[in-house]
Amino acid sequence: MRWSGVVRGDNTYFQRKKLTVVGSGNVGATAAFLAAQKELGDIVLLDVMEGVPQGKALDMYEASPIQGYDVSVTGTQDYVDTADSDLVIITAGIARKPGMSRDDLLATNVKIIADVTRKIVAYSPECIILVVTNPLDAMVYTAKQVSGFPRQKVIGMAGVLDSARMRSFIAEKLDVSIGDVSAFVLGGHGDTMVPLPRYSTVGGIPITELLNEDEVAQICERTAQGGAEIVQLLKTGSAFYAPAAAVIEMAEAILKDKNRILPCAAYLEGEYGINGYYMGVPCKLGGGGMEGVIELDLIGDERAAIERSLDSVKELVGQVDSLLNS
Ligand code: NAI
Ligand code: 2OP
Repeated sequence: MRWSGVVRGDNTYFQRKKLTVVGSGNVGATAAFLAAQKELGDIVLLDVMEGVPQGKALDMYEASPIQGYDVSVTGTQDYVDTADSDLVIITAGIARKPGMSRDDLLATNVKIIADVTRKIVAYSPECIILVVTNPLDAMVYTAKQVSGFPRQKVIGMAGVLDSARMRSFIAEKLDVSIGDVSAFVLGGHGDTMVPLPRYSTVGGIPITELLNEDEVAQICERTAQGGAEIVQLLKTGSAFYAPAAAVIEMAEAILKDKNRILPCAAYLEGEYGINGYYMGVPCKLGGGGMEGVIELDLIGDERAAIERSLDSVKELVGQVDSLLNS
């Protein structure tokens, strides 16, 4: 028998999206595996550790006959292989250990993010970048400064994860389906994040009508400490299943042009009275990336909480600016 079909790799015929994940550690590898299962596109996994992205990519590709996905997954140390990516997820860097805050990672990770961003944009000048590395609000700012990209194309992942944690705690407390629970967490991705009970609902009913004040406060506190709770349990690193699922929800919204409304770290240009900083706010995510910010009318404590969160983001960004200029 002779087969004369179109040859794989001929770009004239194949229009699959291309997704690069930088950092093939816990979050990066899990994100790549989820992206493959959702067939978001051909996947390139890049890491400085020789053999690791290659080994993990091959392992994922060998899972494809069982999981039934038709995408390629390749590993590399060479940015040439990332060329013309539609979307790049950056997870490269060091993660928290017990006793460390996200902010303790700044000095090491700012150098890594700056280097990775330079190389990514050299090969994929049209890509959209999703940053995961911590401290998130400062690292996504670094990627924006170094890339010179407009704000639509450099977005941080935090709010989807923090809101997912809040949703899971609400569902557990009320013993209801997770599918009926929605939640919004705004602000920076740190201890000063701002869970918004008023906008968190079960079947459309605000949780403030279903739980008493103490119960709501406990859920908000556990949400703000959600990352630390996992670090305490794991001891050798930080959370990765929920973070990977969160960034892939954002990637899917962009690559499939879904126009989802999700909480993202977006570069604000006057919204919420904030200019020139990344903050977690509700955004529209579609084919163009961060296509718009929804401005909620914040009241009383909510506004004060956002101000506190902004103060801590400003402090980190100040450190980034001095490191980038030194
Ligand atoms: P990990 O240590 O498992 O993986 C990090 C990977 O980055 C390693 O494989 C390492 O070799 C690689 N790497 C280091 N420098 C690199 C470079 N210059 N180029 C390419 N790769 C490089 O860490 P994990 O758990 O995957 O976390 C990654 C980052 O994501 C951490 O900073 C962590 O704090 C952050 N994170 C952020 C979350 C968020 O909500 N924004 C949630 C979870 C993690
Ligand atoms: C988390 O929230 C470490 O930022 C990471 O789990």
